[in-house]
Amino acid sequence: MTGGAGFIGSALSEELCRQGHSVVVYDNLLRGNKLSKKAMDAIEFVKGDVRDYDLLLKSSKGCDVIFHFAAILGVDIVADNPIETMDVETIGMRNVANVAIENGINKILYASTSGIYGHSAMETAVDEKIIVDPRTSYAMAKRYNEIYLAALYEEKGIHSVALRFFNVYGPKQDNRMVVPRFFEQAAQNKPITVFGNGKQTRDFTFIDDTIYACILLMDKMKGSEIYNIANENEGCIEDLAVAIKKISASDSEITYIKAPKKRYDYEVERRVGSSEKLYAAVAYKPSTTLEDGLTEIYKVNYALA
Ligand SMILES: NC(=O)c1ccc[n+]([C@@H]2O[C@H](COP(=O)([O-])OP(=O)(O)OC[C@H]3O[C@@H](n4cnc5c(N)ncnc54)[C@H](O)[C@@H]3O)[C@@H](O)[C@H]2O)c1
Repeated sequence: MTGGAGFIGSALSEELCRQGHSVVVYDNLLRGNKLSKKAMDAIEFVKGDVRDYDLLLKSSKGCDVIFHFAAILGVDIVADNPIETMDVETIGMRNVANVAIENGINKILYASTSGIYGHSAMETAVDEKIIVDPRTSYAMAKRYNEIYLAALYEEKGIHSVALRFFNVYGPKQDNRMVVPRFFEQAAQNKPITVFGNGKQTRDFTFIDDTIYACILLMDKMKGSEIYNIANENEGCIEDLAVAIKKISASDSEITYIKAPKKRYDYEVERRVGSSEKLYAAVAYKPSTTLEDGLTEIYKVNYALA
């Protein structure tokens, strides 16, 4: 599992261990380590960069599946580091593909992104057939990698799925992302800062649902496919701020500020995904309501802290 010390990768590694799988986590710890002590004892941990081919080759020997989740993300970080973002994506994928070939690993699950849909006009929830419109270095590299994986299957028969995640959120996320940032502001009774008028929508998908979908796909993958991992529930950022303020019983004011210019390409008006294709493949769709997911974060991070 590349990126296995991160928010999604750590949750997935822990669940895979719990289910009795042997897990090797390969991560350069750029964002620290979110794996629990118990998980660290159960997994094999390798500190390494996905751009280091030899170490990745050595570390993945004997694996049956590669989950490729290492990436640079977070709007501000990506906007400030577009070249390194693309480097980690493109060199990382090339290395993952080649170690899979060399080590005889037949399955790759890749963390792509709903960011690929960019500013696609939306009447309804986007599905995987819509023509995508990636605008940022991050989304362009993710789309490039999806195409790379399709070619890898054609040429080498390596099965893959690219998972287009829609705003995953959960207790261990850090405040590069909007949900933990609002929780932090609410906890400190500081203004909850919403960009623009707050009417922009997102489709927030709870971490437990996300990793459940990944594990089901690991067992069912065939060929090279792309799946939305979405909750199919469109909600606006202003409502998110209101919900977090309420759950936190906070006195924070909700304030509206202009987004920094560097964020413009990321600030899409609407985003909601269809999980029909996922459902057809594994008879499962994410379904945790935003209120339940936010309440769980509050309990784990604040009420019990
Ligand atoms: N969180 C979301 O809402 C979301 C949405 C869409 C896509 N994704 C994708 O899901 C994956 C996991 O995201 P996350 O939210 O867990 O992010 P994260 O930042 O918590 O995890 C990424 C991990 O990759 C590691 N990493 C970064 N550069 C590396 C490198 N060069 N070599 C080795 N490791 C490196 C980091 O140390 C970190 O542990 C990423 O590929 C991301 O693009 C996430």
